[in-house]
Amino acid sequence: MWKHFGCLLIITSFYGVVLCHGEEESVLRQPNDKALLRFSADSTFKITLFADLHYGEAAWLDWGPEQDANSSRVISAVLDNETPDFVIYLGDVITANNLPIPNASMYWDQAISPTRSREIPWATLFGNHDDAPFEWPPEWFSACGIPQVSCPPANFSISGEECSFKGTPRVELMKMEMKKNRLSYSMSGPKELWPSVSNYILRVSSSKDLTSPVVFLYFLDSGGGSFPEVISKAQVDWFHHQSKAINPDESVPEVIFWHIPSKAYVKIAPTSLSGIRMPCIGSINDEPVAPQEAEWGIMDILLKRSSVKAVFVGHNHGLDWCCPYNNLWLCFARHSGYGGYGTWPRGARIIEMTEHPFVLKSWIRMEDGSVHSEFTLSS
Ligand SMILES: *[C@@H]1O[C@H](CO)[C@@H](O)[C@H](O)[C@H]1NC(C)=O
Ligand SMILES: *[C@@H]1O[C@H](CO)[C@@H](O)[C@H](O)[C@H]1NC(C)=O
Ligand SMILES: *[C@@H]1O[C@H](CO)[C@@H](O)[C@H](O)[C@H]1NC(C)=O
Repeated sequence: MWKHFGCLLIITSFYGVVLCHGEEESVLRQPNDKALLRFSADSTFKITLFADLHYGEAAWLDWGPEQDANSSRVISAVLDNETPDFVIYLGDVITANNLPIPNASMYWDQAISPTRSREIPWATLFGNHDDAPFEWPPEWFSACGIPQVSCPPANFSISGEECSFKGTPRVELMKMEMKKNRLSYSMSGPKELWPSVSNYILRVSSSKDLTSPVVFLYFLDSGGGSFPEVISKAQVDWFHHQSKAINPDESVPEVIFWHIPSKAYVKIAPTSLSGIRMPCIGSINDEPVAPQEAEWGIMDILLKRSSVKAVFVGHNHGLDWCCPYNNLWLCFARHSGYGGYGTWPRGARIIEMTEHPFVLKSWIRMEDGSVHSEFTLSS
């Protein structure tokens, strides 16, 4: 069965083709030829979610780089407090619409750097700002003319004509990340789902038995930027097909990650007047949910799978709650970056899972080290 599984995962990634030889070893490896993710010896697996970091804003002004340094400080503080097994960058890693450089991979790399330097493996997915086209600030065309910006920044050997300020496509950002980083578990999903790119599945295995999956992590690209904010029908069909193939009896728990909340979040959101009350858990509820533009049924499919425990999204910087939605939890992460709108204190949502029995817990770790909103989602 797990041989079969090894081949099925190939469909999720065009990088994995060579693995489908039916050899025992190939079965035990991630499609991207990484060591298999597994629960640690104490039977836990802890994930830190960094949402909406927005690196690269106003790079030509003093406060832009200062903001990014602040975001790196948040990431470092959270990682040193939590020492997670895995990190997920939950979209809007950069603000491409603010980047007056031809190649945004440099900022993408800055965001990843504190995780990489601690040798923690990670995965990324795309938000609506990551490949947005550059938006020329109107004031650049003032009476004084277009101001001098540092283009290109250091380390790029670029001739003048390559300095055209345009967004870097998702595929290119992902390619650069995967090429350079041994610890990256990110993947460009199947080509037939493009322009949405960050569609892939990771398996986390038991600490005791590598062939035994304890949880599947599904990553979906909820669009935005260079195309509409949607999870397409093609992605829904892909999820349906993949989940049925790798987890046909729904015996393995499944956790889902994407960037922009679905409309179901609107339905269950605490009203602004009532604040966040049980059964919802969280600390800020300061703006309306900004959902995807259109939906083609992903929520119906998730609701039908008893194995799906929770969905985690970012996007709304002023929301950090989790609320139940039938048999699963819909959760916001926590705005982690100094970039992007809002001055709510920065933090990160933590997910901790335990095997035998499977328990899923979550809490929010703030930049200042404090912890709040801890609860058990599934046990
Ligand atoms: C960076 O963080 C410091 C300390 O929290 C804060 O005072 C400052 O305003 C921040 N700067 C920016 C540009 O966000
Ligand atoms: C983007 O920058 C990276 C270095 O960070 C470089 O390796 C890559 O070739 C660049 N891509 C393009 C399209 O310029
Ligand atoms: C430029 O490259 C040097 C050496 O590789 C590195 O230390 C530095 O951080 C880089 N600067 C930028 C802006 O990427």
